[in-house]
Amino acid sequence: METIQQIASLRNAVRTLRAAGKTLALVPTMGNLHEGHIDLVRAAREQADVVAVSIFVNPMQFGANEDLDSYPRTPEADAQKLVAAGVSMLFLPGVEEIYPVPLEEQTGVEVPGLSDLYCGASRPGHFRGVATVVCKLLNIVQPDSAFFGEKDYQQLAIIRRMASDLCLPVEIHGVPIRREADGLAMSSRNGYLSAEQRALAPRLYRELQQLAAAVSTREQAFPALIAATRERLEQNGFKPDYVAVCRQADLQPAGTGDKNLVILAAAWLGKTRLIDNVTLP
Ligand code: PAF
Repeated sequence: METIQQIASLRNAVRTLRAAGKTLALVPTMGNLHEGHIDLVRAAREQADVVAVSIFVNPMQFGANEDLDSYPRTPEADAQKLVAAGVSMLFLPGVEEIYPVPLEEQTGVEVPGLSDLYCGASRPGHFRGVATVVCKLLNIVQPDSAFFGEKDYQQLAIIRRMASDLCLPVEIHGVPIRREADGLAMSSRNGYLSAEQRALAPRLYRELQQLAAAVSTREQAFPALIAATRERLEQNGFKPDYVAVCRQADLQPAGTGDKNLVILAAAWLGKTRLIDNVTLP
């Protein structure tokens, strides 16, 4: 696996493989890789001759009081996992390489509307940071396809919208959530949980499954079901941030007449913010 830190070297490497007629997929990550990331690599390998993975903890998507400094950074272990997964190119840029100008002077990519809901409401500026860095990575690597986890359902919707609105010549793919045996969605932030919180954490997914079952009968109005879910989460040690039953197409709150729904949720367990979702056919 070739590890590249500079944009110019990355572009040279991509030029060489393009000249050889190879297709290229990109898996953007922030590192601290787990099996969910490796699923993205596997999906990418099925689509393209060459898979590039980027690891960049993007300061622009963290709020002032968030975990930028403590976000887990495990470059050696990550590289080993990527080699084992058959990745041929690792893009590992420093902050100055991606943001040579101060962040407040950096041109930003806004996806209005979608970015203001749910996680965007709780984390102002977060999705502007995500859209900007993903746009930059796509412009740097210029892959045929790019792969993102469905755990970050709203993020994926925003990235699809950005790629479509800005006519980016890339196919955006979502890859299903990888869960631990007890149902907890894999996340780099799960490492923040204490043993006690880790034991409680799978409850979030169970509550969303229960809510999905109730929603699918269409017997009760959704706001009452959501309120009951929030209450049960609170009784079980969570501080719910949001629980929403939405339309997959535009993430707007759904009514009982809507089809193709997704339940999105975020909840705090101590200092750890967990997110999860369940789609309904
Ligand atoms: O999902 C993530 O890990 C990040 O938000 C992403 C897409 C790599 C952008 O920094």
